Amino acid sequence: MAIGVFDSGVGGLTVHRELTRRFPGRDFVYLADQANAPYGGRGGEEIVELTRAGCARLFDAGASVVVLACNTASAIALRRLQQTWIAGERDRLGRPLNVLGIIVPTIEAATGLPWSYEAERGGRLEGQKKSSLEVTGVFCTAATAMSRVYEIEIDKRRDDLAVFSEPCPGLAGLIELGASTEELKVVVDEHVDALRRRIGRHPDKAVLGCTHYEIVADLFMSALPPETTLIHQPSAVADALERYFTRHPDYPLGDGGRRDFLTTGVPGPQSERVSRFWGEPLSFDPA
Ligand code: DGL
Repeated sequence: MAIGVFDSGVGGLTVHRELTRRFPGRDFVYLADQANAPYGGRGGEEIVELTRAGCARLFDAGASVVVLACNTASAIALRRLQQTWIAGERDRLGRPLNVLGIIVPTIEAATGLPWSYEAERGGRLEGQKKSSLEVTGVFCTAATAMSRVYEIEIDKRRDDLAVFSEPCPGLAGLIELGASTEELKVVVDEHVDALRRRIGRHPDKAVLGCTHYEIVADLFMSALPPETTLIHQPSAVADALERYFTRHPDYPLGDGGRRDFLTTGVPGPQSERVSRFWGEPLSFDPA
């Protein structure tokens, strides 16, 4: 049994790396749906169906808990899968299974409040006066931006935080294809500047709300001023998963330190940028 990590491509490796640091003895299976990446420009139903197929593949490969290390899949598909699919999947395989997402932990980190806060208190944390409004910028795919999930969920919890999502169409695809630093820098600079113009200044905090962007975090950090702090999504997810496993010690997660990397796309070595991020060459096996 194992922890499954799912992404449309290489972006989820940023989360996987943090999770394997946090749970080194556990078994992990990573699935990149590279045959269908990028997800960010796809329609909702397609994203739901692709995410469902990816999770089923991971459960078949022995995962008990699948982490959707993909903002787009978490924003568009997670609730549907939890409400309409996972129960049947538990019956099919006859064991405890679950799918968790990446957005709830990120919102908890961005607001400093547990997810249950809104349901328990039934309202927002009344913040300071509007003059001290803090601005969080979320760089993400077009599908995530269109869902407005970050704006809606943060606004329910904090009235002193304003959220601006900046869709960066094409950026995940370029990272996936191993584009050069020069090419990527132009695109990152453009979006950081577009967000600055929309807000009227740089954001106080930024979320790289597409896991692929963490691979080029250095480019975002050099485009943003030093005063803008990054909310680190991989650590937020690892913190949340640690709390989840403490509350649910019943999931068998394996203890052999197994690491499998599967792709629906072309198996083999990943781009040089991915190897650099990973610290050594990384090769995927066929899913
Ligand atoms: N890495 C994914 C995310 O976090 C999706 C990128 C894509 O496939 O467009 O949103």
